[in-house]
Amino acid sequence: MERSIVGENDVRVFYDNALHCYQAIMGDRWHHGDPEAEASGLSVVEACERLEERVVSVARLEPGGRALDFGSGIGGPTLHMAKVSGASFVGVTNNEALNQRAREKAVEAGLSDRVCFLSMGDTDYKNLLAFADASFDAVTFYESVCHLPDKAAFFRAAFRVLKPGGRLVGTDWLQRPFGDFRTEEQIMTLIEPVNAFICLPGLGTVEGYRGMIEGAGFRVESAADMFANTKCWGSTPTTQRAQWLEYQGPAGEMFRNGKVALDAARAAGVFTVGMFAAAKRS
Ligand SMILES: C[S@@+](CC[C@H](N)C(=O)[O-])C[C@H]1O[C@@H](n2cnc3c(N)ncnc32)[C@H](O)[C@@H]1O
Repeated sequence: MERSIVGENDVRVFYDNALHCYQAIMGDRWHHGDPEAEASGLSVVEACERLEERVVSVARLEPGGRALDFGSGIGGPTLHMAKVSGASFVGVTNNEALNQRAREKAVEAGLSDRVCFLSMGDTDYKNLLAFADASFDAVTFYESVCHLPDKAAFFRAAFRVLKPGGRLVGTDWLQRPFGDFRTEEQIMTLIEPVNAFICLPGLGTVEGYRGMIEGAGFRVESAADMFANTKCWGSTPTTQRAQWLEYQGPAGEMFRNGKVALDAARAAGVFTVGMFAAAKRS
């Protein structure tokens, strides 16, 4: 398959369709849950909530605090983090349709006084200029940075908007060598179709993310593969498989193909999810 060139505007348009598909199949959380929580028998939603609670705790968010959730989807994780922490949140995406749904959810949850969802321009993530220097206690992200062509610029912008002592905490899709797939060429035979169908400009690695976060000025507290030494089948219940493979909504073929490509990368072990925590030195 040809290497795709995915731009930020492509990702915005992708989510016009993904909104319908992801909401129908995954509900209001579009990220992997805590693997240990799932292994203990909790549902995908409960495992997502446990992960969000872990993020809030690592970010040291408390009542009165203020956080930016970058790439907030339709708001499920943002609202749960606000609920359990007592902090205020600003969720941002470059897709207004997602934000409209997220705002409705904030009202339903009775959290619209502490949580707002803002639309930003496609490339505003590179500087986050809508936000003042040192104006947040934490920046969180769940599986959103993977969509950015210039991930390093986002980490530099996150550093600027954090207060001294503030924390960057998040999870993201990654690629890695696994089993018989060792070289970049071998890995890309499986990852390239994932990138093409799921509108990703390219996946990073644990060490690549560590380097970009350190390069932005942070002290990295942890950078870990959440599925180290095992294939990443987290939050992929077999009960959802038919829903993905038979999905008939807008751009249905793209989402069906995306499921097949992602499952192939999971099966080969070259796809995983990482978790990162870093502090801005005070
Ligand atoms: C997989 S979804 C995750 C949504 C949410 N964090 C969750 O876990 O439910 C990726 C999110 O990244 C956002 N995103 C992708 N590219 C972006 C960009 N250039 N600027 C802002 N948000 C972006 C998408 O709009 C979407 O909300």
